[in-house]
Amino acid sequence: YSVAQNEPHRPQFHFSPNKHWMNDPNGMVYYKGTYHLFFQHYPDGTTWGPMHWGHATSADLVHWTEQPIALYPDSLGYIFSGSVVVDKDNTSGLGKNGVSPLVAIFTHHNPDLEKQKSDKYQYQSLAYSLDEGKTWKKYENNPVLPNPGITDFRDPKVRWYEPQQKWIMSLATKDRITFYSSPNLKNWTKESEFGQDAGSHGGVWECPDLFPLTANGKTAWVLLVSINPGGPNEGSATQYFIGDFDGKTFKPYSKETKWIDYGTDNYAGVTIANTNERTLFLGWMSNWLYGEKVPTSPWRSAMTVPRELGLTQIKKDWFLTSVPVKELNVLKGESISLKKENIKGGRPLTSKLKNESGLFKLDVSAQNTNDFSIVLANDRGNEVIIGYDKASNVYYIDRTHSGQTNFREGFGKRYTAPRLSADQIISLTVIVDVASVELFADNGLTVMTGIFFPEQPMSQLYIKSAKGIFIENLLYTKLKPSVKQP
Ligand code: FRU
Repeated sequence: YSVAQNEPHRPQFHFSPNKHWMNDPNGMVYYKGTYHLFFQHYPDGTTWGPMHWGHATSADLVHWTEQPIALYPDSLGYIFSGSVVVDKDNTSGLGKNGVSPLVAIFTHHNPDLEKQKSDKYQYQSLAYSLDEGKTWKKYENNPVLPNPGITDFRDPKVRWYEPQQKWIMSLATKDRITFYSSPNLKNWTKESEFGQDAGSHGGVWECPDLFPLTANGKTAWVLLVSINPGGPNEGSATQYFIGDFDGKTFKPYSKETKWIDYGTDNYAGVTIANTNERTLFLGWMSNWLYGEKVPTSPWRSAMTVPRELGLTQIKKDWFLTSVPVKELNVLKGESISLKKENIKGGRPLTSKLKNESGLFKLDVSAQNTNDFSIVLANDRGNEVIIGYDKASNVYYIDRTHSGQTNFREGFGKRYTAPRLSADQIISLTVIVDVASVELFADNGLTVMTGIFFPEQPMSQLYIKSAKGIFIENLLYTKLKPSVKQP
């Protein structure tokens, strides 16, 4: 296969819209065997504009089919980010004839009120589907949560709180998260606020998500909060807190920010509703610094691969881990492996990589004794370097010479992330899909996602270490495309 001539940077197994602009994932929900991905979408151009909810479905999180637009702007405004819940017991009364509704809770953003300098231009509304997500109707008494006078009042993420038989909404309210509750998705009561005195505040808070995770018999609540700007490597990024939630208040174990992904390109990610014991997450694989400028056409941007989230403890501190979902295994092609090998200087990994467009998964475990890197390159001299820097104990992605970088100053840089694990053995999983790299280090404790735009497909792969590195195991696996080929 090859990527379409005129779409050299089209991801081959990440979701990207056929055409036009996309940002945040919205309303992700698993229902009756189908994963639904809605997304912030402007169907008339490749930059941000009046927002709609685009829609894609998948049976396996890997093969996606784009569907007709689910929600169009209306007299109340554009359709901003939000979530979907399965209202199993029809608490909302929006179900009919025994059919439980899927209910979307989203932000209406009113551009007219914004122009009039009102501070009440964002408010929360409902839409519902009675045909398993195919078509949507707006609720007739929108909005359900009017604006109390807060300029940034958006991105409701709702979940059922079983112990108290009520819905909990996490809402981004400027520089904090406000929690509301409701018996029926229609009447909302404020419960508490979190975050004024916690976390990073380099930008506005957006796209929260509050959910429980269990590890070794201990259940903790995770609060994701996207922030733009103010990320660890500039621009947009998603921080998280771990703590307790009692149906009213979120109490973090630490007020310090942690980052779900230190890379530049994972924003506004939230979890998929209704997936039972698994907690699955994906984000927008771009950054508000340059999302509207990246050199792709006729579409702009893709989502990250879906990731399974976990909880782990290091010393006394709790951390989130993210690893690629196992469903991606269906894409596995031929593989090559190395075992117990000292690499000094550069080692081309495979000559078979020639004539490939760079779709693979690389699993490497190595001693943490020296610097080493994984280098992705092509004949044009473009390279993306994914590495470990021993002296500063950081991982990095260096896209300085990665191809087209001048659409935004500072895009072509080396970005770093702290290594949080103290293990002797470094284990990395690297996923590459034409124009993106996702690094999952130490079982997903440190994650970095970065996009890049080579001038021709990446066709070479090397492991490099000037001082020498001992590789315990290495497995390179080709991945097959999941998108329909042109
Ligand atoms: C995050 C965000 C959300 C908002 C949406 C608008 O990227 O700014 O806060 O709902 O995008 O498209």
